[in-house]
Formats: sequence, C-alpha cells, structure tokens
Amino acid sequence: MDTVTHLREELTKLKSISAEQARTMPPSYYTSAEFLALEEEHIFRKEWVCVGHTGEIPNPGDFYTTELVGEQLIVLRDEAGEVRILSNVCRHRGNILAQGSGNRKKFICGYHAWVYDSAGRLQNAPLMDQIEGFDKSACTLPNFATEIWEGFIYVNLDGNAAPLAEQLGGIEAIIKNYKMGERNFVYGEETIWGCNWKCLAENFMEGYHLSPTHVKTLHPITPTSLCVKMPHDDYFTGYWAKYNPNYPERLPYPEGLTKEETRQSPMFAINPNHVIGLATNACVYMCLRPAGPDHVAIRWGVISTAQPDDQSAIDYVKLCHEFNEEDKEKLETLQKGLKSKYLGSNYLAPGDFEGTIWDMYQFMARRLGSDVELQKA
Ligand code: FES
Ligand SMILES: [Fe+2]
Repeated sequence: MDTVTHLREELTKLKSISAEQARTMPPSYYTSAEFLALEEEHIFRKEWVCVGHTGEIPNPGDFYTTELVGEQLIVLRDEAGEVRILSNVCRHRGNILAQGSGNRKKFICGYHAWVYDSAGRLQNAPLMDQIEGFDKSACTLPNFATEIWEGFIYVNLDGNAAPLAEQLGGIEAIIKNYKMGERNFVYGEETIWGCNWKCLAENFMEGYHLSPTHVKTLHPITPTSLCVKMPHDDYFTGYWAKYNPNYPERLPYPEGLTKEETRQSPMFAINPNHVIGLATNACVYMCLRPAGPDHVAIRWGVISTAQPDDQSAIDYVKLCHEFNEEDKEKLETLQKGLKSKYLGSNYLAPGDFEGTIWDMYQFMARRLGSDVELQKA
C-alpha cells in the first residue's frame, strides 16, 4: 500500500478511538513528500490560512511578499487602506513582480516593465497596443479572498471557504476579554526551521514539553503541571497555560479580564496553520507554511498591550527568542528521529497535556481521511 493511502486510512481509524486512548500518527505522517502534496492541495489551498498581521503593513502602499504552497503572494494595504492579497506573478510571462517588503503605489515588472496598480490592474504594457486583441483589462492580477480576524490577515486561495468570522465564534468567545485585536504589533520575523509544519504546530500547542524543554524560560511561569485543556471545535483547539501562583502579575493587561483570566494564557491553534500564545500583556503568534516535508517557513511575531520600545514588550520579545531556540533545537532533532523505520505509534499524554495534538489529528482526519472524497481545488 502506498504511503498516502496508508496515512489516510490511519487518519480514518483515529475517528473511532476515544480521546483517552489517543495515539500518535505513524512517523511518515511527518516525513512523506506525497502526503505533503495532499495537504497542500486539500488543506492549504482550501482553508483560510493566516499569512501575517495587519501591523506589518500599517500605511497605504505598505506591502510584503510571501509564498504559500508554491503561490507567490503580495500582501498589501491599498490606496484606500484595504488589505489585499494579490498574485505576485506578472500576467505577461510569469516573472515575479515584487521582492521583500516596502511601500509602493505601483508594481513594475522588472522583466518587460508592465505596470500594475495596488488593486492589481494592469496600467501600462509597453508596445502592446500594437497587438490586435490585447486587452489590458483582462490582465488584472488575481486578487485572492482575504479576511482580517483580530488584526491577523488570512487568505483562502481557492475562494470557496465559508466566511472566516463565521468559523471562529468558538474561540472568539474564549479570548474576547484579552482584546487581542487592539494590541500593538511590536516585532515580526520570517524564518525557516528544519521540521515538518505539523511538528511545530503540535509543539506550540502542547503543554507537556513546557517544564522539561523550557526549564529556565517557561517552566517558572507556566509549568506543565498546571496546563488545562480547552474545549475545541472544527476550527480551533487549545489549552490554558496557567501561571505559577508565585509568578508576578503580567502587566499591563486589558481592563475587563476576570481574576482567573489574569492568571492564564490561552494557547490556541486556528486550523490549519496559525498558533497563538495569548498572555495577559503580550502575545506570540506563528503563521506556518510548509516548505517541503522536512522544513517549515514561519512568519512569527509579537503583539503587545505596550508599545514596541516599552520594557515589557522588549522583555517579552527576548523571552520569545529564548524559548523559540529551545523549541527549534528539539524539533530539528525530532525530525531526524522521525525518519527511523523502527519508530511506531505510541499513546499521547493525557488530554490536558497533549489533547490538542489529538484534536489536530481529528481535524486532519475530517479533511483527509480515507472516508473523505477529495476534490481537486
Ligand atoms: S514577465 Fe512581466 S513584463 Fe514580461
Ligand atoms: Fe515550546
């Protein structure tokens, strides 16, 4: 049996196992290029996928470029102040239009100088008026479906997903007092780690590793023993990382948090690729994009109740760099271990600690199980 068929059948089997008997997926789930192709086609092209934060493009004309499952994208704020996601591929012969990030009113292709405005409309194409039948208005760059949720920018490549806000009512109710959408963008970075995208999503979302992996960084704040699983639905899962009672208040936090909420961080994943740790005063997030079976492209950042140069924001960004280094080291050794032919499946830790992984598996089973009829995007 080929790997993809095997993994799809394994996902289907998970549906009839109870959460108390939760087990890991076979290692090939994290290493197979063929299975990744399936994920790209049937998850990343079909779901709402987070590609960054509006704070990265605060002003009209601001843009950055990114790549998602081989699609080149320009994420920009247009002249009217709306966020748009355009194809970054020139309609002439396919050159990439823009690199990196910056501020621009127009995008001029470096190859033959076709010019597009910030809505993707072709404004000028040198000498092409000599061609009978050439129609500038038929050369607009594809505008991908885009939604903003709590300050985050999402794209839906195939344009058929249900409205994002409708999907996220469940998590919205849990996090509303933290006023995530009102926080300031204080730090952002793009990087690549040597692990499968799901390994990082799962790592971010399980509290089991907090104490042993983050001995000096996170264990004193949010030890493993205090983690409590959240409810979940089709679109999200999460847990509460409760604060050590001896750890000082994490200030400044928004008015309106309950006493309990001031002593815990909701840690949650918006399926498939957006993971968020929402502390009372700061918030770290990661937008994950597969980059081959063994690598993940990460656009991560920090949003805060403070300003970028306030000490609490600076300290939190420093902490993020420290715990990210610790996670990266573990995930890159994990990815090597996953190539072993002698590693089978094992039980996951109890629900409060690794139940989120089980929820993410179940999401994948609902999308890719062998009992699901897959349709080409
Ligand atoms: S490929 Fe862009 S102008 Fe020719
Ligand atoms: Fe971690």
